[in-house]
Amino acid sequence: MSPSSRLRRALLFMPGDSMRKIAKAIELGVDSIAMDLEDGVALSQKPAARRTIVEALQTLSFGRSERLVRINPVGGEFWEEDLRATVPARPDGYILPKAEFGEQVQAVAEFLAQEERARGWPAGGIVLLPIVETALGVMNVREIALADPRVDALIFGAEDLAGDMGAVRTPAGWEIFYARSAVVLAAKAYRLQAIDMVFFDLNDLEGLEQECRVGRQMAYDGKMAIHPRQVEVIQRVFSPSPEEVQAALRIVRAYEEAQAAGLGAIALDGRMVDMPVVRMAQNTVQKARAAGLLGE
Ligand code: COA
Ligand code: MG
Repeated sequence: MSPSSRLRRALLFMPGDSMRKIAKAIELGVDSIAMDLEDGVALSQKPAARRTIVEALQTLSFGRSERLVRINPVGGEFWEEDLRATVPARPDGYILPKAEFGEQVQAVAEFLAQEERARGWPAGGIVLLPIVETALGVMNVREIALADPRVDALIFGAEDLAGDMGAVRTPAGWEIFYARSAVVLAAKAYRLQAIDMVFFDLNDLEGLEQECRVGRQMAYDGKMAIHPRQVEVIQRVFSPSPEEVQAALRIVRAYEEAQAAGLGAIALDGRMVDMPVVRMAQNTVQKARAAGLLGE
């Protein structure tokens, strides 16, 4: 397991039966496009949504945006048909909502392994992003993370979790804070990316920015988006700023010079720099490189 090198700052969701929204998403330069077959689609529209997603995958050019499909919960009534119908159009990955057991992830992984073999596609090429959004999912987050090497990121879903637990969602979010922490901690322990919860107020961009900052400070790599307006804010906050990149590069350089001179801990601008500080700086440099903010 190694941390995915793919940049996933914003994952924009849209109902899979809306070709208009899928086409709109492509124009935004968003890192990941999540075409939904689950709760964003009415029961009667599931077959139409599968057809629309296949058509989009086969006819539209997504540029550098990742092409993801969110299927229905594994074990329920729709997920197998969701997979069967969409896999021939070869999305880059599948989002698995309400993940609670490793076996659910494995069932999808086995299906994909067979398809890849049969179609001559590279083994393990299609990735999986489980959403942890139930109390049981939080308790079992470790087995979900470790279920299969295709798992590339864990997503945290706050609204479904609150609904599942009977908690009341508040702007401060203390009712979901333990779970939000548990998901990012598990992701980092097993070298996966972590994607933070949806911000529901489509008009409150300041509130969105604040919530992005907290998520980033917690070590989330990105955040779900539900409206084009949210994409710029999310992608900006989840990219290191030029000042952060400069500061990180100075730390890494000072550390390398210190190592060459046989020194461990050093002082830089009146602050101690040792290994944990260097590691944080290296993370920033790596993110900046992935975001194309550095040369080479
Ligand atoms: N992805 C891509 N385009 C979107 C979009 C999305 N999630 N949400 C809105 N747009 C487009 C609209 O189509 C519209 O473009 P158009 O005028 O060219 O048609 C433009 O952005 C402005 O949209 P707006 O009128 O402000 O929103 P709306 O009232 O049409 O839609 C929602 C509001 C909430 C229904 C819509 O944002 C949406 O579908 N969000 C995603 C819902 C979802 O997938 N939920 C499940 C995952 S949590
Ligand atoms: Mg949900």
